[in-house]
Amino acid sequence: MPANPDTQATRRLVHEGCESSDWRAYAARLDDLAARLGLRRALLGQPGGEPLCLFTPLADPGRRPRLLVASGLHGDEPAGPWGLLRFLERADRRALDACSLSLLPVVNVTGFRNGTRLNAWGEDPNRGYLHADGASGPSREGAAILAHAADVLALASDGFLACHEDPALACAYVYSLERRQSPGPFSIALREVLARRFPIHPDGLVDGCPVRDGIVFNHHDSSLEAWFMRNGSARAACTETPGQCAIDERIEANAGLIEAFVRCP
Ligand code: NI
Repeated sequence: MPANPDTQATRRLVHEGCESSDWRAYAARLDDLAARLGLRRALLGQPGGEPLCLFTPLADPGRRPRLLVASGLHGDEPAGPWGLLRFLERADRRALDACSLSLLPVVNVTGFRNGTRLNAWGEDPNRGYLHADGASGPSREGAAILAHAADVLALASDGFLACHEDPALACAYVYSLERRQSPGPFSIALREVLARRFPIHPDGLVDGCPVRDGIVFNHHDSSLEAWFMRNGSARAACTETPGQCAIDERIEANAGLIEAFVRCP
């Protein structure tokens, strides 16, 4: 979550054959995958002329769990968006058909292009959704999401996952929110995916929040994940892969986190 001047956003991606901030390459591959998987693209807004896209399944969700994954809220955390692509490339049809999965693949496109945490106007696209921690209001991206609040809340009624990174750290952790007193299978499943690849953050504080066994539990701030929880999502999480580790490992971890999110009962 904290800003890091030594950004890794321009790292060359081995499997993808481009820079991690290559927005054109990213968008082209995403559109191709979305078409192949039968996802519908909607435009929530165009901050700075860049598209903030929401992808939803063509099929009626019926009684299937409604899940939403967001990534690229901070532009210097590239493994989330690229991990989402890797998840889509590998996703087996049965797993996808078992739920109704919607996607906000790159919320902060100007930050992604520039390799910066904040958007082009210095706003934080993961703050200001609720009037907590002194936040003045939403970013341009946040305002676009809030303008479609009823739609996105319906898409995330059974769960919301935001794929973040902590550029300053070499260990991983997760913020999770559940309607219970202690972390349940949802939180633990995400932590376990991280633990397979990275050291887990030691118990203590991270960004001023108490972390135990790699989990910051039921922390309510003005973030997008807290907004979903406040407005009725059954559960929500913000995962943090360590920006100081190799980017390919981080991309793999993010693909695995989305797989675990989709499979978790
Ligand atoms: Ni972040």
